[in-house]
Amino acid sequence: TLNTISEELIASIRTIPDYPKEGILFRDITTLLSDPRAFRRAVDALVQPWAGSKIEQVAGIEARGFILGGAVAHQLSAGFLPVRKKGKLPFKTIEQEYELEYGTDTIEIHCDAVKPGEKVILVDDLIATGGTAEAAVKLLRSAGADIVAACFIVDLPELQGRAKLEALDVPVRTLVEFP
Ligand code: PRP
Ligand code: ADE
Repeated sequence: TLNTISEELIASIRTIPDYPKEGILFRDITTLLSDPRAFRRAVDALVQPWAGSKIEQVAGIEARGFILGGAVAHQLSAGFLPVRKKGKLPFKTIEQEYELEYGTDTIEIHCDAVKPGEKVILVDDLIATGGTAEAAVKLLRSAGADIVAACFIVDLPELQGRAKLEALDVPVRTLVEFP
């Protein structure tokens, strides 16, 4: 069940206090990734609702969303679409700005990364405020994507990121929560 899987996943995630700054409890998934059983379970559980539903592209958000997104894309026999921080993609790009705790940041995709109406799943390791994922949804939709769902291993429910995506009519799947 999702509950027993979640317990195993929670146990495999390491928490680093005061990283990258004081007061933040950083949820470090490198310890999940290094555990073969936890890594497989996380990938399988993330995509289980969409197995057999003809997802065409998996969009992964740099950097930790690349690791999971590649595995998820392979599992679904889908393509992989990198959503990158500004300035990293070589071809013509489209971009979307979003709010950070202090200031703003910008993500990009290639202008031809999505075919109109293509079924896309968005993947990242963690949703906090939801600002990054919301920007990714807007960017992918502006390119013509049909966003089928957004999937994350970790939800930080206090920060209410899920509601931000649900307000955009994006179904959200998460596997574990840290209060
Ligand atoms: C982290 C995480 C998500 C984002 C979540 O990435 O991997 O992408 O923050 O935060 P939000 O829901 O408040 O937008 P980060 O920006 O630290 O980049 P990194 O993966 O390159 O370390
Ligand atoms: N991204 C935003 N908040 C985070 C946290 N608490 N742990 C890991 N990644 C994060």
